[in-house]
Amino acid sequence: MPTPAYDIVDHCYDVLVVGAGGSGLRATLGVLEGGFSTACITKLFPTRSHTVAAQGGISASLGNMGEDHWSWHMYDTVKGSDWLGDQDAIEYMVRAAVDSIVELEHYGMPFSRTEDGNIYQRPFGGMTTNFGKGPAAERTCAAADRTGHAMLHTLYQQCLKGNAAFFIEYFVLDLLMDDDGRCCGVLAWNLADGTIHRFRARATILATGGYGRIYFSCTSAHSCTGDGGGMALRAGLPLQDPEFVQFHPTGIYGAGCLITEGARGEGGYLTNSEGERFMERYAPSAKDLASRDVVSRAMTLEIREGRGIVAQSKVQGKSKGKSKGKSSGKEVEKGDHILLHLEHLSPAILHERLPGISDTARIFADVDVTRQPIPVLPTCHYNMGGVPSLHSTEVVNPSGKQGGNDSDRVVEGLLAIGEAGCVSVHGANRLGSNSLLDLVVFGRAAAETCVRLLRGDGGTSARGGQVAAPQPSQSCEQRVLARFDSYRQASGEHRTASLRDSLQHIMQEDCSVFRTKEVLASGLQRIDELWQQLPEISVSDRSLVWNSDLMESLEFENLLLCASATIACAHRREESRGAHAREDFPKRDDEKWMQHSLVWIDSAENNAISTGKYRTRFAMRPVHSKPLTAKPIPPQERVY
Ligand code: FUM
Repeated sequence: MPTPAYDIVDHCYDVLVVGAGGSGLRATLGVLEGGFSTACITKLFPTRSHTVAAQGGISASLGNMGEDHWSWHMYDTVKGSDWLGDQDAIEYMVRAAVDSIVELEHYGMPFSRTEDGNIYQRPFGGMTTNFGKGPAAERTCAAADRTGHAMLHTLYQQCLKGNAAFFIEYFVLDLLMDDDGRCCGVLAWNLADGTIHRFRARATILATGGYGRIYFSCTSAHSCTGDGGGMALRAGLPLQDPEFVQFHPTGIYGAGCLITEGARGEGGYLTNSEGERFMERYAPSAKDLASRDVVSRAMTLEIREGRGIVAQSKVQGKSKGKSKGKSSGKEVEKGDHILLHLEHLSPAILHERLPGISDTARIFADVDVTRQPIPVLPTCHYNMGGVPSLHSTEVVNPSGKQGGNDSDRVVEGLLAIGEAGCVSVHGANRLGSNSLLDLVVFGRAAAETCVRLLRGDGGTSARGGQVAAPQPSQSCEQRVLARFDSYRQASGEHRTASLRDSLQHIMQEDCSVFRTKEVLASGLQRIDELWQQLPEISVSDRSLVWNSDLMESLEFENLLLCASATIACAHRREESRGAHAREDFPKRDDEKWMQHSLVWIDSAENNAISTGKYRTRFAMRPVHSKPLTAKPIPPQERVY
């Protein structure tokens, strides 16, 4: 295929950061502070990144509200991960947590305060004291229920203060690699004027966020389309552990918007149609503050067993929650959600600590939280999997060969952080409030790694100056442009929105909270059919300026790649662990499966839009069960 002709604008930096959420901004700031030139390239205005939506808080064992210790935080995180988290990375994160909070405070982040002026901390699911033996830990530092908003604005302001170079509303098309598999930068499309830009750098940090939008009901922004995962797969790199998808227990029924776990941290609780606080049966000790996977499964079982709430609009004179399926020839409504109660909390607490979700509940559920419970349902919230990396955040690409000892083989010039990456500190299930922590700890770690590498590498401190960055291979660049142009000229019969809608329904129906081989196999088959439709995608706008049709089509391919990796790994993993609940394999199987899944989508390297074909390849990668300095936490039964 001849290379389409596009004029290219060239840029050269020491470091590129792709994405301007919490991790991307923290990395940008760190590189600036290290004295190197950096460009932050983002498809959104930075303060619109999805981090802005994070509500309940950021964990750290500050001990402001009671005794706490990083080793307790480490234990909870390893247990929360169902022993799939890498213990070296977990120790690194929890030990760095306290400093990271102090750093944010010094950057000006407006945390909520206790009476005596300390940072306010609330309980969150799975966070305990004394290695799970003590009461719930108050470990989650909060700025009311808008913690992500406060953090994102703080970091952006610091980047502005440091004169960071931002390329805003630039959509990164792909990684540029050289013939030795080294990452040399990215090719990006400026949405505002249609120009194409080649960014070369000696290090590229992927901070592109998750891919929650593969599901129909999710708390993720429309922009969470797995762009980093798509780029990595097309570059011949794997995703790790994509089958572990977190369902947050309290998405608003129907709308999917998040109601923070902080609501239960402040004393909120769940009930079924019989008014029962059912979590007492499933998690007698932690109850409503059990880990998210546990609460989401309990809610799903209550609904399945006929104790779900019937939507008000459906009740029409029938008694709530009592009816199920068809009886005596009459269609009877089935209860399909659960209630979250906050109305027993004082209005002052709701106003001071949960103002955001009080608004959200009013707008999206027509509920006054001071008087009525909120209808909620488990909703896709977070991808534990992503581009695999070490705790230095350097991306790894093992050969995947049986018996190979290269499981930590680094891809030169590429780092991955935040939800785009898989360090892996969350393993099979992330604890609430460990995500904002992951963003800042590993955002900073990425910057430190780059600075270390660049110093050893004779990096220059000339900001924005020309530095010797490696040259991508010509064939790689041609492939990226050819793919872009194929979408731009696409004239098939399937609108992107309708393909995306099908994808989201497939994942919602066939790769949800509970999974079986049959259902996953049906999902895989339906995904195959979608791939076959890809060459018939239709893009009606051929222009290059603010062509949202084209951008959404490129995003759709990223979603399709991430969804294919997710469902294929879910089908393959024959055990239940963390958020991956296989009804046909209900037990955790440490002997066979206490390993990370790796998946490559080989044909993604080629022009998938032309062929409609893809082929998956799998391997396993050992979990790092040895911490940096602490004693390893051996696998145990995971009960709350
Ligand atoms: O419930 C929440 O506020 C979400 C927090 C998180 O995912 O870390």
